[in-house]
Amino acid sequence: MKGRKSVFKDESKLDINYIPKILPHREKEHRLLMEFFDFLLKFSEKMSQRVIITGDVGTGKTVLAHRFGSDITLQANKQQVKLRYVHVNCREYRGKIFLILQHVLTLFRPNFPKRGYSSEEILGMLFQTLDEEKTHIILILDEFDALIKNEGSETVYKLTRLQEIRADKPQRISVIFILRDLKLIDKLDDSSKSTLQRNIIRLEKYVKDQLVDILNKRVSMGFNLYSVNEDVISSIAEIGFSETGNARFAIDLLWRAGKYADANDEEVVNADCARKAVSSIIPTFRKNELDSLGLHEKLFLLAIARFFKYNENAYVSISEIEESYAIICEEFNEKPNSHTQIWKYAQLFSVLGILKIEVTANINRGRSTKISLPAIPSKELEKELSASLGKNKE
Ligand SMILES: Nc1ncnc2c1ncn2[C@@H]1O[C@H](COP(=O)(O)OP(=O)(O)O)[C@@H](O)[C@H]1O
Ligand SMILES: [Mg+2]
Repeated sequence: MKGRKSVFKDESKLDINYIPKILPHREKEHRLLMEFFDFLLKFSEKMSQRVIITGDVGTGKTVLAHRFGSDITLQANKQQVKLRYVHVNCREYRGKIFLILQHVLTLFRPNFPKRGYSSEEILGMLFQTLDEEKTHIILILDEFDALIKNEGSETVYKLTRLQEIRADKPQRISVIFILRDLKLIDKLDDSSKSTLQRNIIRLEKYVKDQLVDILNKRVSMGFNLYSVNEDVISSIAEIGFSETGNARFAIDLLWRAGKYADANDEEVVNADCARKAVSSIIPTFRKNELDSLGLHEKLFLLAIARFFKYNENAYVSISEIEESYAIICEEFNEKPNSHTQIWKYAQLFSVLGILKIEVTANINRGRSTKISLPAIPSKELEKELSASLGKNKE
């Protein structure tokens, strides 16, 4: 038996927890973090730092913190500076400072008993351990929102003042707070707030072209050469952008599209694989909506479904739709509607979320329109439409 081929070269590169060496479009923020913590490489015992990273879901907060943490640790160790970074997801510890500190301490003292100590005592022992080992840690408190919600401002106040309590001793703990909702810090007392607000790094949502760059990197690491169509990357980026500018979503779609390609023995990830991936995540397709459409609206949509069923492309132009629609009309003994009317159908289905219309400026040919069917597999749409058109004939 022939070994099954896969479009993937290394699927782990598409895993949600994979940390790439380079983060496209986060270079500036990475550099800023390096500047904030630059002192650690020179006089780590004299200073500590607090920084907030904020941004929406999938903007790269977690991956940036990890990348930075391991980069600065490597650099420190090269210079014989003892530094470690510790990443804790506060939500996984139910936002409880006690559980979080206990976890951090057990990284240094694995046999430390789980019971019988208060948070203050555990923190004291953590400092003692770090003093003994002459080590500075960068504590990354990810999903810090959970901690604020659970513990309220007093604990946060203490966390922002970890070092002040022991002002004359060497500085041992710096903190990066990762926070989705900056408004949460408004609720804190003025002094915690002002300490936290000084160093804020905001991660903006990604735009389409940025997502294309991020996806392209993953494609070259995770997929075999030439096994992902270029317009698939573009249409996935487009959806990632319209669904919140979320890189996680886009990478997940890419991976799923690859899985569909493998499942169907396709040699390349084509537009229909991407559509299957999207429809498995976003249920935009409401079948009974089709029944309420007019005859020519259905014929128009059928023309699109057919086009994508027989073409690998992710995009279709309005003139190609017109051709395909004219053929369908012939099949149904209907007189095709005008160009203007076809354009109106396209806009209607774009509003309904079934089609996506992009107008691009083209130096030689003026503006051109690209239409895609991002979320519904073409075969499925064709099947539903044919069934629905059958009812029309009755
Ligand atoms: N600039 C980037 N370059 C490469 N991958 C990225 C980038 N930004 C985000 N990602 C990837 O997108 C996914 C979501 O990022 P993540 O850091 O978990 O977002 P957040 O923590 O802000 O919700 C992860 O798989 C991450 O590796
Ligand atoms: Mg995160």
